[in-house]
Amino acid sequence: GCHISQHKQKYFKKQAFLITVQWINNLRVFETGLLRTSHVLNIDTCLHGPDMTGLTPLAVVHLHGGKVPHNSDGYPEDAFPPGDSSGIYFYPNIQPAGTLWYHDHALGITRLNVMMGLAGLYYLRDSNELSLNLPSGEYEIPLVIQDKSFHTDGSIAYNENFEDHFFGDKILVNGKVWPYLNVKKGKYRFRLVNGSNSRAYTLALSNGAQLTQIGSDLGFLETPVMLDSLTLLPGERYDLVVDFSSYATGTQILLTNSAPAPFPGFAGVGVIPNVLKFIVQSAAGYTSPLPSTLAEIETLLPANAVEQRVFELMAMASPPCAGISHPMWSINGLGWDDITEFPVYGTTEIWTWHNQSGISHPMHLHLVSFQILDRQAINEATGQPEGPILPPAASEKGWKDTANSPPGFSTRVIVRFDGFTGLYPYHCHILEHEDHEMMRQYEVVPCQLVTKTINAGPGSLRYAIDCAENGDTIFFDNSIAGDTIILNDPLLLNKNIFIINTNANAVTINGQNTMHLLQITSGSNITMEHFQIISGMGTYGRAIINDGNLILDNISILDSTGGLNGGYTVSNHGLLTLKHNCNIKLSSF
Ligand code: C2O
Ligand code: CU
Ligand code: CU
Repeated sequence: GCHISQHKQKYFKKQAFLITVQWINNLRVFETGLLRTSHVLNIDTCLHGPDMTGLTPLAVVHLHGGKVPHNSDGYPEDAFPPGDSSGIYFYPNIQPAGTLWYHDHALGITRLNVMMGLAGLYYLRDSNELSLNLPSGEYEIPLVIQDKSFHTDGSIAYNENFEDHFFGDKILVNGKVWPYLNVKKGKYRFRLVNGSNSRAYTLALSNGAQLTQIGSDLGFLETPVMLDSLTLLPGERYDLVVDFSSYATGTQILLTNSAPAPFPGFAGVGVIPNVLKFIVQSAAGYTSPLPSTLAEIETLLPANAVEQRVFELMAMASPPCAGISHPMWSINGLGWDDITEFPVYGTTEIWTWHNQSGISHPMHLHLVSFQILDRQAINEATGQPEGPILPPAASEKGWKDTANSPPGFSTRVIVRFDGFTGLYPYHCHILEHEDHEMMRQYEVVPCQLVTKTINAGPGSLRYAIDCAENGDTIFFDNSIAGDTIILNDPLLLNKNIFIINTNANAVTINGQNTMHLLQITSGSNITMEHFQIISGMGTYGRAIINDGNLILDNISILDSTGGLNGGYTVSNHGLLTLKHNCNIKLSSF
């Protein structure tokens, strides 16, 4: 690791109780006391990130699975250089117990920093977990699984030039190559994360015994699930229990891997088979029974989804740089700065990963927890999902933040956007893909932000007014500045709110499809700023009927085509204040 992780270590020491942080690599580099100013591995300045910051080894820490504010999320653009630091991060830990992990997220060099060791586990516990009487203490063991290659002097070897994957020839658990673990005769709880850059693992016990899964990425399953094997892609976590109580002293059992690389690829190709060895000792261990129920999990219902979005996972030609055309991946052909998803705080959406690319992409969203709904094969001729709808595997139930999107399938996840508003990344967790454009960002917007010109529903002006509380301000995203909102029904304004367009261009509110447009009830206080309003239809269609206290600031009102009493655009029975060039006509009826 480069020296930057010293700062990070300080943050983590400030975390609340009930957290275990474990660095998986030793930090020998620090002991020299030297400040590194160049990266150990080759930085490719053709990639987005280092193309602006050059060869400086930046770093920033992300708590994967953590529901944290935007400014503590390890925003990839907020990566900082040696000798510098970020602000103090705040991890509120407002979520159920789960196997979180943290790793570097610097734009365009995440793959290099994680390869050098900037990754570790973060256990979040809660009272439910503590009541389950699971194996703990010496019987609860993290298994951070990564693959690496080494030079003959033991230093880490990584691709010389950018490639769209990295597959090491050794498997490391908690920073050690092919280690063994002495186990007592009893149950162990293993907390697994696939912290590898690109490699997937299909793990099984060499004696054919089953593994008991108790949790997935973000918490417990409802009930334990028995598995012959399990597959985890980069970023995914498993919470497992293995029972060694029935084995003779000295028994050796391997945890083996059979996943091809790339994944799913071809059986046997690229497989590194050994992961870890268990050696059974004579001492008795933890033998209490496992509970039969572990947690209650709310099921997110597709009927409650307000938005469905489809994402095409695809390879793209990258513009040649320094004479080389790097392999590049993308989501919908768009880049990091193309922000097109604005989920509204508190709403539920269905996101579909549509993958015709030939390999699996583990798709991860920051901030949120989701559930995998289903998968459906894509008909190659039509490019559309068709045929049987397959439920997620038993091992994929529960709250997840990373989902395998297999090739030839569309994978649907259902997600509620809550916790915080702001910008958050979503990306493929193959770090070489993430570093070369398979990472975008979405913005959770407050329900009071108008992002769409539609008549109703999340993002609309009507929705914003409904969700606003007294004293709130409704803002307009600048992507709709200059656009027209067409209302099909009157808008009732019966509270005390500010409706403010702060953008350079006015927003037009057009009532040509409705009778009276804005109806301000008696007792309410409304301020509107910087709009053009087109009055309602019909003989007496008004732009505004005011029975309350209304302040209009920089408002221009046009008469719609149908009004016989055209020109009388505000019918005022209350208190009306006009500021800054309001262009309106009044009537009292
Ligand atoms: Cu492991 Cu963007 O995350
Ligand atoms: Cu994450
Ligand atoms: Cu990918």
